[in-house]
Amino acid sequence: MSKKIVTPGIDFYQRNTRFKWVVLAVSILISAGSIYYTKILVDQLKGRERQQVHLYAKAIEYTAKEQDPYSDVNFIAQELLFQNKSIPIILADGNGNVLSSRNLFIDSTWSENRTKSFLKKEMDLMRETYEPITVTLRDPQTNEVFGTQYIYYKNSSLLTQIIAYPYIQLSVIAIFGFIAYMAFNYSKAAEQNRVWVGLAKETAHQLGTPLSSLMAWVEVIREDADMREKGVVEELEKDIQKLRIVTERFSSIGSTPTLKQENVVALIHNVVNYLRPRVSSKIKIEVYTLSESIIANVHAPLFEWVIENLCKNAVDAMGNSGVIAIKILRGSENKVFIDVSDTGKGIPRSKLETVFRPGFTTKKRGWGLGLTLAKRIIDTYHNGKIFVKASEENQGTTFRISINAVTH
Ligand SMILES: Nc1ncnc2c1ncn2[C@@H]1O[C@H](COP(=O)(O)OP(=O)(O)OP(=O)(O)O)[C@@H](O)[C@H]1O
Ligand SMILES: [Mg+2]
Repeated sequence: MSKKIVTPGIDFYQRNTRFKWVVLAVSILISAGSIYYTKILVDQLKGRERQQVHLYAKAIEYTAKEQDPYSDVNFIAQELLFQNKSIPIILADGNGNVLSSRNLFIDSTWSENRTKSFLKKEMDLMRETYEPITVTLRDPQTNEVFGTQYIYYKNSSLLTQIIAYPYIQLSVIAIFGFIAYMAFNYSKAAEQNRVWVGLAKETAHQLGTPLSSLMAWVEVIREDADMREKGVVEELEKDIQKLRIVTERFSSIGSTPTLKQENVVALIHNVVNYLRPRVSSKIKIEVYTLSESIIANVHAPLFEWVIENLCKNAVDAMGNSGVIAIKILRGSENKVFIDVSDTGKGIPRSKLETVFRPGFTTKKRGWGLGLTLAKRIIDTYHNGKIFVKASEENQGTTFRISINAVTH
C-alpha cells in the first residue's frame, strides 16, 4: 500500500479535476437542451410548411375546377400560390415531367437542358426528403378525374438555417471557451512561473550574506592551530562549498541560465562521487557509458541538480538496499539519453504523469518539488524531455532524460 498523500497540493488537483467535470457536464446539458428546444421549433415549422404545401395543392385543384379567371376562388388560389416565397416547390405530372417550379434558383442564362437536369436532380432530392403531395384535377362539370399532378418540396432556407443554428452557435461557443481556457491556463502558468523565479532568486540572495560571512569566519578559524589540527577547516570548507552550489542552483533557476558545452559523463560522475559516501553502503550506484566523453549543451549546476534529485528519489524508493544504474547513451537524431534506473517500489501506472506535478509526494518529509524542478530544468532550460520510461511495481523505475547532443 502506498502512503497517504500528505501535502495539500494534491487535494487541489483533485478538486480542480472535479470542477472540470462539473463544467463539462453542465456544458453538455446546456448543449443538449438547446439542440432539443431547436428540434421542437423545427418540428413545428416543418408541420407548418407541409400545411402550406397542402394548401398550395388545394389551390391548384381549385384553379383547375374554376373556369372563370376572375372568380373569387381563382383570385384566392392565385394569392396562395404567390404567397409562398420561401418553400422550394416543383410541380410535376404523373410521369415525372416538371411542369413548373417555385423558389428554386434558376439562372436565366442556363440552357433549357441544363435547367431541366437541374430540376430533375432537385426533384430527386425532394423525393428523398418528403413524400410528394398529390393534386387531383377534376373536370368542373362532370367532376371526373382527368389528371394527377405531384408537388415535390423541401425545407425552406429559413428552416434549414434554424436546423443548423444550434450547431453553429455551440461550435462558436466551444471555440471561444477553448481559447479562453488556454489563455487562462497560460496566464496561470505565467503567474506560477513568476512566483517560482522570484522565490528562487530571493533565496539565493538571502543565502549570499551568511555565506560570505561564513567564508570570513573560516579564515579566522584557520588562524587557530588547534582547529587546523582537528581538520575543522576542511570540513567547514566542504559544507561551504555545498552551500555555494545550492546558492548557485537557486540563482540559476531564478534567471535564464546560459548553456555551455559540457561533458555529461563527467558531470554525472561528479554527482555520483558526491552521493556515494552519503548513501547506505548497501546501495550501489553504477554508471554505464560507451564513451567517456559525451558533449551536450547544459548548465552544469542545474543538470547536476536534476541527476541528484533522480538519485535521491531512487534511494527513497529502494529503502535499505538496491542498485541505481545510470546509463548514458548517444541516441540517434543527435540526442543524449540518460536513463536513471532503480530497483525500488515502482510508480503506479496512474501516477506516471502526476509525479511531475508540484506538491505531489508520497513521503512524510517530501515537498513534492524534486521532479517538478527536474522537469522545469530539462524542459524549459535544456529544451529536452524527462519522463518515466518504465516502472514496475516492486521491481523498479527508469526515468529518462533526453537532451540535445553537440556534434563535432
Ligand atoms: N524512482 C522512484 N520510484 C518510485 N517512486 C518515485 C520515484 N521517483 C519519484 N517517485 C514518486 O514521485 C513523488 C514525487 O517525487 P518528487 O521528487 O517530485 O517529490 P518528493 O521526492 O516526494 O519530495 P522532494 O520535494 O523532497 O523531492 C514521490 O513522492 C514518489 O512517490
Ligand atoms: Mg524527490
